[in-house]
Amino acid sequence: MAGTVARATRGRVALLTLDNPPVNALGAALRDDLAAALDAAIEDAAVGAIVIAAAGRTFPAGADIREFDAEARGIALPDLCDRIEAAPKPVIAALHGTALGGGLELALAAHVRIALASARLGFPEVKLGLLPGAGGTQRTPRLIGAEQALRLMISGQRIGAAEALAMGLIDGVVEEGLTEAAIALAADLAAEGKPPVPTRARRTGFRDPVLYARIIAAAREAPRNARLPAPDRIVDCVEAALLLPFDAGLTFERTAFADLLTSPAAKGLRHAFLAERLLRHTPEAGLAPRPVAQVGVVGGGPVGAGLLAALLGAGLRATLIEADRDALIAGLERIATLHEAEVAAGRLTPEARDADWERLAGSVDPARLAGAEAILDPGEAPQASLALADALAASLTPGAVLALGDPASPLWAAAASLGRAGDAIGLAVTEPSHVAPLVDLCPAPATAAETTATVAALLHRVGKTVLRSANGTFVLESLRAAGRRALRRAAEAGAAPEALEAALRDFGFALGARPFGALPATAVSDTSPSGERIAEGCLLALIAAGARLVAAGVALRPSDVDVAATLGLGFPRWRGGPMHMADERGLLQVRNALLALAAEDADLWSPAAIFDHLIKYGERFRDLDGGKSA
Ligand code: CAA
Repeated sequence: MAGTVARATRGRVALLTLDNPPVNALGAALRDDLAAALDAAIEDAAVGAIVIAAAGRTFPAGADIREFDAEARGIALPDLCDRIEAAPKPVIAALHGTALGGGLELALAAHVRIALASARLGFPEVKLGLLPGAGGTQRTPRLIGAEQALRLMISGQRIGAAEALAMGLIDGVVEEGLTEAAIALAADLAAEGKPPVPTRARRTGFRDPVLYARIIAAAREAPRNARLPAPDRIVDCVEAALLLPFDAGLTFERTAFADLLTSPAAKGLRHAFLAERLLRHTPEAGLAPRPVAQVGVVGGGPVGAGLLAALLGAGLRATLIEADRDALIAGLERIATLHEAEVAAGRLTPEARDADWERLAGSVDPARLAGAEAILDPGEAPQASLALADALAASLTPGAVLALGDPASPLWAAAASLGRAGDAIGLAVTEPSHVAPLVDLCPAPATAAETTATVAALLHRVGKTVLRSANGTFVLESLRAAGRRALRRAAEAGAAPEALEAALRDFGFALGARPFGALPATAVSDTSPSGERIAEGCLLALIAAGARLVAAGVALRPSDVDVAATLGLGFPRWRGGPMHMADERGLLQVRNALLALAAEDADLWSPAAIFDHLIKYGERFRDLDGGKSA
């Protein structure tokens, strides 16, 4: 074993196993170790073919994103890929898990690729504002042509092994025994003794150059967000694959990759990716959650019904409690409507829908919740909450947890009077959709850590992104309130609702002003602030609020504020989030801008003391993220 790559010999086959948990990201150590192991295998006269496989859950899921902002070390990934391709002995890549980005590019540099049937392949670089920069834009179209190459690279979507095989991206699929199959194939190739065909020499995808050029031209015309430069550069690179000799194409790709890497959009998207991963790093992350198989939901309003659909979709049993028969029927109908939409969209089979429905119960009697390991009350049905509070002793069985959306819910007091305050926690599911990913989880002072861990695990299970707030305040709600107040200020200064909407959309807010809630109608004047001023006021309000939340320990780290903004308020992901933007602008400049606005509304815009502290020590918000953020 040379660090992160284990080397074994099976007959005439050298098996190189990559081992860099959790996702075999292609960091400097792994690249260097693989290059060394490859060289050794090439030099070893007893070796006739080489297999590159991966230990653990996946073949490399890409370059190491955390290295993108650090000084370059070790052999560069494109150079490693070139070395694999130039190997005089056949190299076989054995793919399982998620072979993504640089991982897939590494595989494309090998001479043969086989995959486990469950493997997923893709180029997610575009979601990070990048393009496949290790030869992917040049090798992929040689194998599968312009249309499929562009589809994969511009959408960033993953495909299954069968589809990859059908389009010619890989050469074989096995149901099981991947490594053994790869070794057997390698042994055959070693016995044949033919020199391998490098992907750079393949021309299958160039069979029809006229069609290729037409596809490039059409891709150039496709409407796209002008603020995201990566797709256009991908089109350029795929065009270059046809027009330029391979090495010149690689140089072209490398230049485009380097340009994109330092672009503000890529920095923002990288930050957003890592910020979402950091969310799971909470004080209770190591605690074992209590098992939950049955859940009660109070209220079948839009949020409750959405939660129920998500819980059922994850295979849980669920009971809807409503205050009366009519409300119960309406709630069940909402769930049915959500289900039908999923079936119509092809995301749910009728059989799965029926199975979900069988695990659903509805009642107007809160005592029917006895036996549920978790009760979720988003706060949409105050009458039902009241009834549950009266019957809580019978409904909240020992060990069950209670998650409450309304800070003023009578259930808090009811839980405390039963000696169950430790089992109750605050929960904010603000977007009334079963697909809305973000849920804000806020332990009260008395909440037991195990309760937080249990509810977080339940929400993860149903596909939610969990934002862990602290100290009795919800991060997302506080940010929303700050943004709303800034918009109200702009309205009072004469901006019409349409101007507010346009300003936010121009800035990049995907949903405009909607996530900020209803704004009061105000008199529109001729002296309306400009769109830029409106957006700037809103951005600075979010930054100021975010800084206060961080200083008060409500947000566990600045990057959590950014996730709340991007996933909860539609803040443009490619801008990273308000705290990322503050860092990028420079905190001194941001503080001064805040001070200038604070004269208008000190509560909204005055900068918290944390700005002075960070500025004094030459730090930025990202320095408080725990060292992992971009
Ligand atoms: N680099 C560094 N770390 C990564 C990583 C990467 N490419 N991908 C995942 N990780 C880390 C995560 O940060 C997380 O770390 P912690 O446990 O310390 O928080 C850990 O791996 C597990 O990740 P997830 O929580 O996301 O696990 P998951 O099972 O939900 O998803 C995944 C796994 C599908 C691989 C997902 O992590 C993912 O989509 N990763 C990004 C893939 C990607 O974008 N690759 C392209 C990189 S760019 C590139 O390769 C450029 C090029 O052409 C040279």
